[in-house]
Amino acid sequence: MSVASGRVRLSAFAKINLDLRVLGTRSDGYHELRTTFQSVALADTLTFTRSRGPFRITCDDPACPTGRRNLVWRAGALVWKASGRRGVPKGVTVHIDKRVPVQAGLGGGSSDAAAALRALPKLWRVRIAPHTLRRLASELGADVPYFLEGGTALGLNRGDVLVPLDDIARAWVVLIVPDFGVSTKEAFGWWDESAGRTSRRRAPAANDLEAVVAARHPIVRRLTSRLTREGASLASLSGSGSAVFGLFATRVMAERAAAVFRGHRVFVARTLSRRECRKLAAN
Ligand code: C5P
Repeated sequence: MSVASGRVRLSAFAKINLDLRVLGTRSDGYHELRTTFQSVALADTLTFTRSRGPFRITCDDPACPTGRRNLVWRAGALVWKASGRRGVPKGVTVHIDKRVPVQAGLGGGSSDAAAALRALPKLWRVRIAPHTLRRLASELGADVPYFLEGGTALGLNRGDVLVPLDDIARAWVVLIVPDFGVSTKEAFGWWDESAGRTSRRRAPAANDLEAVVAARHPIVRRLTSRLTREGASLASLSGSGSAVFGLFATRVMAERAAAVFRGHRVFVARTLSRRECRKLAAN
């Protein structure tokens, strides 16, 4: 599948946050963060095809918006404008094969947007400098720049200023996705209400949003505790949730633990290094 054939297919990998510290509020309404992003081998597949007519998105998941609210559409509009073209974007149809659960803190929508930023300049035959692409990414959302890089990386400021870190030793991730979603905006609002207070009775969680999300959705704490009892070396909420994850040293250990959570939406996936991410993305 190549640009010459008029079609590009990319995998858009999910992320987890190995830790997440909310350091305070910012004057732009966002929150100052320090977080460690980690790619996992669970991905949406995006197929970009040259076509006649306006830029269009199709998706196999009815829960995924296909109009201008989709970050892929907004990425398309930004690339179109950055390439000096006028009006609404046209000439490409994007099909999203959605595998990464939405509103789960796994960055599915942001990863799709980063894939669009990489693919669309090829299909529209424009060269966009890497620093411009990074700027467009951070305009789209705080964690979109991370998905241009992948692997293990520290996210600072809004999470959009990145410091690549050495890849962690490969681990297996058990992801449990409860049957409700959490809006990131809302979760940060809960953090504001709690004024950053954390319970003194508990050991601090790896993720500062966990306490405020678990206060509304107690199942989150039950799931992380259970993952720890099942032998996870780290169990935490991912981003603003609702997904929780446990890290395990081997696939066998992860699958044994995953079996305990039957009845939930559960995924077992390995972590990906930055190199693997880049290599696998184009397959
Ligand atoms: O940047 P993105 O659109 O993904 O963020 C969604 C919402 O999450 C923001 O509108 C903001 O309310 C909140 N957020 C935040 N601080 C961050 C990242 C996100 O307050 N660092």
